[in-house]
Amino acid sequence: DNSQLALTPPMGFNTWNTFQTNINEQMLKEMVDTYVSSGMRDAGYRYFVLDDGWMTMDRDANGDLVADPKKFPHGMKAFADYVHSKGLKFGIYNCAGDRTCAGYPGTRGHEYQDAHLYASWDVDYLKYDWCNTDSLNAREAYITMSKALKATGRPIVFSLCEWGNHQPWLWGKGVGQLWRSTGDICNQFDKDKNIGAWTALSVMTILDKQDKIRQYAGPGHWNDPDMLEVGNGMSVSEDRAHFSLWCMLAAPLMAGNDLRKMSPQTHEILTNKEAIAVDQDSLGIQGFRFYAFDGLEMWVKPLSKQDVAICFLNRSTHPQNIDYTWEAHVLQDAVSHLNINFTEGEYKVRDLWAKKDLGTTKKAFKQTIASHDVVMLRLHKGN
Ligand code: DGJ
Repeated sequence: DNSQLALTPPMGFNTWNTFQTNINEQMLKEMVDTYVSSGMRDAGYRYFVLDDGWMTMDRDANGDLVADPKKFPHGMKAFADYVHSKGLKFGIYNCAGDRTCAGYPGTRGHEYQDAHLYASWDVDYLKYDWCNTDSLNAREAYITMSKALKATGRPIVFSLCEWGNHQPWLWGKGVGQLWRSTGDICNQFDKDKNIGAWTALSVMTILDKQDKIRQYAGPGHWNDPDMLEVGNGMSVSEDRAHFSLWCMLAAPLMAGNDLRKMSPQTHEILTNKEAIAVDQDSLGIQGFRFYAFDGLEMWVKPLSKQDVAICFLNRSTHPQNIDYTWEAHVLQDAVSHLNINFTEGEYKVRDLWAKKDLGTTKKAFKQTIASHDVVMLRLHKGN
């Protein structure tokens, strides 16, 4: 029974967005060390996940997968032990098809064998991709691997990476703990990137696909809008907006930057504990777009203890002024489906990036938001 895994969205680091298949034990150990020394672990990040490219091109004589000895001269168990020795959890990658997207051996036909191997390495998390899957039934393929993981007796978070084509939000709960909702993200705010045969999606393109599936997310079963591009080339305000919105969505927070080369701004964004607390709130409600007008949007996420997270987003190319009067009925409407009473009392308003208290909701909220930036607030009910 893996129903108690990932009761809040998984947080961690994954190699793909920066390194693709260009990984090796030495640099990954440095990354693990920096994960701890930079405060990422203390901020709540736990998983260290190897994506595609860790294997040799062929299985061994027993049909087992083999960690590439050039990249991992001490083998995968030794690397997993290193990750665990730092108080982190270890994740690995494979694919439901015959081959992974980068051409390494896929798991098709070896589900129980591979699950057994991962458990013997003390793997805690498996990301399971969807390349080279001709004629496979997605739901059945993911259920088979899910059963194989459960049969090991080891709690292993199962991350479905099927890109949303077979609506995994309709059947993923109980199969895995998170499922990708779209194709791959890229390090651009609002312009998709053509990469030969396919298109990598901008942060805004992915954001716009989340509202209609929000009801499928909750503790232990999350929509995954893909890994973070914070620190990978967007402007600081774009990175801040991207991170804030992923927190509003209760998204898995998988850093995808080179942790060894983090700028102070990237570090500040990724380790903002008050923003992370919005993501990790125990209710596990995926936030939603409450209004959008002329490039300015207001996102709302109900939190435990009747708190509310608010994120104003400026998607336009010019600064925008907000002059927002807090009306009880607005918040009440926003959470009407939750049967919570928001009409009483006033809230304290906290700016989660300025890290400042801004008074209460009795006063209108007035601020100018720069282009491609956000203001993220927590409305706090208690004292
Ligand atoms: C496609 C996935 O969507 C990416 O996140 C990454 O895992 C690559 N495949 C690896 O080949």
